[in-house]
Amino acid sequence: MKAVVQNGFGLSSVAVTDVDEVPFLPMSAEIETKKVPLLPYDIMKINGELYTDKQTTLGYGAVGVVTKVGALRSKKLIGQRVIVLDQNGTFKEKIVSNMPPLIIPIPDEVADEEAVAVIGGVDTAYMLMKKIIRAATATKQVVILGANSVVGISLIQLLKNKGNVTIIPEVRQESRNYFDRLVESLGMDAFLNTEKIMADALVVDIAGNQGLVSLYKNQGFEIISVVIQGVPGIKFVSAPLFPNEYALILDMMAQKKLRVFIDKDFSVNQIDEAINYQIMSYSRGRNVISFD
Ligand SMILES: NC(=O)c1ccc[n+]([C@@H]2O[C@H](COP(=O)([O-])OP(=O)(O)OC[C@H]3O[C@@H](n4cnc5c(N)ncnc54)[C@H](OP(=O)(O)O)[C@@H]3O)[C@@H](O)[C@H]2O)c1
Repeated sequence: MKAVVQNGFGLSSVAVTDVDEVPFLPMSAEIETKKVPLLPYDIMKINGELYTDKQTTLGYGAVGVVTKVGALRSKKLIGQRVIVLDQNGTFKEKIVSNMPPLIIPIPDEVADEEAVAVIGGVDTAYMLMKKIIRAATATKQVVILGANSVVGISLIQLLKNKGNVTIIPEVRQESRNYFDRLVESLGMDAFLNTEKIMADALVVDIAGNQGLVSLYKNQGFEIISVVIQGVPGIKFVSAPLFPNEYALILDMMAQKKLRVFIDKDFSVNQIDEAINYQIMSYSRGRNVISFD
């Protein structure tokens, strides 16, 4: 079967290759892959910024359709559109999942290209939203660095739904018009705050720019980051969601209370073009790789 395999580092190490099918067990479910998100995480692996095995299939999440189940799995799953999470790699035509909680059904109202933006995007924003709500006692300001990112746009919407924080978005000049247009289309102009930043504001870093974060660190702000690790004064945060939280996110999307944005949808055969585009472009929504 076809898979996108990284064998070494750099763009030249990535190729669409034939790989062996994995063993199918009584607990297994087979998912025919439709779409996968191309994430900053994948680019970091390709660039060698993250450790990888010598040969690895890219991706850890996908959207697809269940085509086969083992004797110990519910037959009702067959034909179901799902999000599947699998650390063994998901950029491949078929994924065999052996962990029941890591298959999340997608409601009919949510399209494949919307559901794919949940993986490493809305889910991360949801994780951040929980931490922010826990930290914010009264009405509190939250400064978001990299607010135009996929995670940032999702986080702003989630926080708006919760209602007890005001948001100060920080976006670099090149992305300002894009961000302003999105804010307008989401009807969030009134919700965002550009007033003076109070001393007890929480800074949420999604951009990973050390220089920018230092400006806030030097002023003594509390900072959490989904990118920067191992720097005193900056708390790196990362945590998985529970399956019911994925279901909640998908339900919000089905009810149009939460919108996601896709930039480009590439065929798997255009993987080099997709990776180059992702590296060279500002964030304008999630880039997606299609297998169908
Ligand atoms: N900790 C976790 O569990 C976890 C989970 C998922 C993702 N992440 C990380 O979260 C980050 C955001 O993910 P995403 O999918 O939302 O990415 P994304 O849509 O590609 O957005 C990246 C953001 O970073 C900004 N940025 C990049 N380089 C910058 C620089 N030098 N200076 C200022 N801003 C810069 C981008 O601004 P422009 O658009 O203007 O370039 C954009 O706002 C990624 O680093 C990802 O690896 C962490």
